[in-house]
Amino acid sequence: MKSVVYSRTGDPSVLRLVDRDVTEPGPGEVRVRVVVSGVNPTDWKSRLGSGDGAAPPFPEVTPNQDGAGVVDALGDGVVDLAVGDRVWVYLAGHQRPTGTAQEYTNLPAGRVGRLPGGTSFDIGASLGVPAMTAHRALTVSEDGPQRLHPGALAGEVVLVAGGAGAVGHAAIQLARWAGATVLTTVSSAAKAALATAAGAHHVISYRDQDAATAIKKVAPEGVDLVVEVAAAVNAQLNLDVVKPRASVAIYANDGGAEFTLDVRQNMMKNLRYQFVLLYTVGDAALRAAVDDITLALVDDALPVAEDAGLPLHRFPLAKTADAHQAVQDGAVGKVVIDVL
Ligand SMILES: NC(=O)c1ccc[n+]([C@@H]2O[C@H](COP(=O)([O-])OP(=O)(O)OC[C@H]3O[C@@H](n4cnc5c(N)ncnc54)[C@H](OP(=O)(O)O)[C@@H]3O)[C@@H](O)[C@H]2O)c1
Repeated sequence: MKSVVYSRTGDPSVLRLVDRDVTEPGPGEVRVRVVVSGVNPTDWKSRLGSGDGAAPPFPEVTPNQDGAGVVDALGDGVVDLAVGDRVWVYLAGHQRPTGTAQEYTNLPAGRVGRLPGGTSFDIGASLGVPAMTAHRALTVSEDGPQRLHPGALAGEVVLVAGGAGAVGHAAIQLARWAGATVLTTVSSAAKAALATAAGAHHVISYRDQDAATAIKKVAPEGVDLVVEVAAAVNAQLNLDVVKPRASVAIYANDGGAEFTLDVRQNMMKNLRYQFVLLYTVGDAALRAAVDDITLALVDDALPVAEDAGLPLHRFPLAKTADAHQAVQDGAVGKVVIDVL
């Protein structure tokens, strides 16, 4: 099979297209014939050595956590999937060398979800990291639901920072599907159009106007939950617009890695900060996310492509390095690799 690998960390040129044997899945694993591989910032950050340039965790690593394809073989003990099932996969390369930038990948059956009905492989490859992170962020508030379904967030005001980002897009879609009033902040008119297409009720261009004023105008009672990509930059904004007992779910440090908190002002609002990292979120949260995302797929609530607010940028497997560079350069939308 064709496989993309790296044996040392560094810029995209460390990625090599090689031929490798197809291997049998181990106990509890499935082998998936990958059709589309999804690229996320975490994939290039790992390839780069996770910040400090550390060596790869295995002698040879195939990148990319997300993807979609068809179950091709079952390991011993796998009973709830069948050969031929159309599936999406997540965390394919977490603590193992078997990402999705290759024609076949083996992974634990628990990291595989079925694609209901006619759900496309493009949607499937766009789910993993973004949708599961968004699910966690939307289910960690004190007064909010722990699971998502239509009506779960009814009456709640959710503010999604950066609604044209991949996680932001998934957060808008899931929050909207679950019945929230969805506000989002973006940096440009083009991104505003995408966030509107994703389903946001109110889109605030934070460069053109005072975001706090604009948010308070459409949500005078305040925001219940913030899904935050730029916690340091938006710390004061969040404090200004949230209502008492709100939560700020922080999943990234874009724009700044540290910020200070005014104890009294935060205390006055009983504000809660919940950090979110998919890798350590735990099995119960992962399972809940897969189940709820599957329901949303049945409802056709998670479309992708430009008219759904997430333009797709396609690359062939041999151009995986270019795909990584595109994500690293901040491509707006979703970068996917056609493997089949
Ligand atoms: N913790 C986790 O488990 C987890 C999971 C997934 C992703 N992440 C991290 O989350 C980040 C985003 O991932 P992604 O795939 O969504 O990337 P992406 O598609 O590139 O989106 C990033 C978005 O952040 C927005 N942004 C940056 N500064 C902002 C600000 N001050 N206010 C509002 N929006 C702002 C940008 O929009 P504007 O240009 O409109 O500002 C951009 O659309 C990455 O750092 C990634 O590594 C973490």
